[in-house]
Amino acid sequence: MPYNLLKGKKGIIFGALDERSIAWRTALRCHEEGAQLVLTNAPVALRMGEINKLAEAVKAPVVGADVTNMDDLKKLFEESMKHFGGGIDFILHSIGMSLNMRKGKGYTEIDYEWNKKTLDISAMSLHRVLRTAWEMDALSEGASVVALTYIAAQRVFPDYNEMADAKALLESVTRSFGYYYGVKKKVRVNTVSQSPTLTTAGSGVKGFDGFISYAEKMSPLGNASADQCAGYCVTLFSDLTKMVTMQNLFHDGGFSFTGVTEAVIKDMKE
Ligand SMILES: NC(=O)c1ccc[n+]([C@@H]2O[C@H](COP(=O)([O-])OP(=O)(O)OC[C@H]3O[C@@H](n4cnc5c(N)ncnc54)[C@H](O)[C@@H]3O)[C@@H](O)[C@H]2O)c1
Repeated sequence: MPYNLLKGKKGIIFGALDERSIAWRTALRCHEEGAQLVLTNAPVALRMGEINKLAEAVKAPVVGADVTNMDDLKKLFEESMKHFGGGIDFILHSIGMSLNMRKGKGYTEIDYEWNKKTLDISAMSLHRVLRTAWEMDALSEGASVVALTYIAAQRVFPDYNEMADAKALLESVTRSFGYYYGVKKKVRVNTVSQSPTLTTAGSGVKGFDGFISYAEKMSPLGNASADQCAGYCVTLFSDLTKMVTMQNLFHDGGFSFTGVTEAVIKDMKE
């Protein structure tokens, strides 16, 4: 049920690849809540053409931008501000990619050139987005920026590989830039730490099927879905959370604070 929480707000959504993407689900939910949107993804992802279906559903233009390219980001903000006729109220950063994982390299044998690229795409890209907005004064007073992360930033999940380091860096950029943008313009910057979710990026993690069912059993509320994550992001974009910033917010059905569950103990006995 829509609550009109984003009526009159204007936002940029990064990272909708296909209909399973968390960004895709969030775009639909933001639209339902009354927001106007611009969608963006890497040019190579746009070539798949899927995003045009979403663009039609949420009545949004699509602007290509490789998030590691500052000229692309500048153009994205210019076009978005032109489209909206003013500043931007919220941004979803829903981007992740591990070159070492994709090429089958384990954590103890990573290629450092690929690792640099992974950190740039998955973490420093948030700095690049915020810096571009900062230099162009593109965000409205009290705007909200949310990036998606995973608990492997705090605890070891072996097959999450170099992405664990990328997420730790992403969460650090969130705090550091969150400080400066808070002081400058009351802009909020937070990460949402989501349950494992069946998407293209998610299923790139080795042993993902076993892992998702383990997390389900280890969470008192079960795993959070992409649609539920979208709902949480909407609350963070809304005016109801104006004083929440520089936080890593777990959206994981209670997984992060559970030591063990009866369901897991039962499995171990069998
Ligand atoms: N799926 C999960 O289990 C899970 C859990 C916690 C957090 N997350 C995070 O959620 C976010 C979204 O992932 P998802 O699961 O929806 O998967 P997804 O594969 O649908 O989305 C990842 C997106 O990153 C984009 N991207 C990659 N390189 C890019 C570049 N250079 N420039 C611009 N965009 C680029 C891809 O095109 C894609 O749209 C990621 O940060 C991911 O780490 C996912």
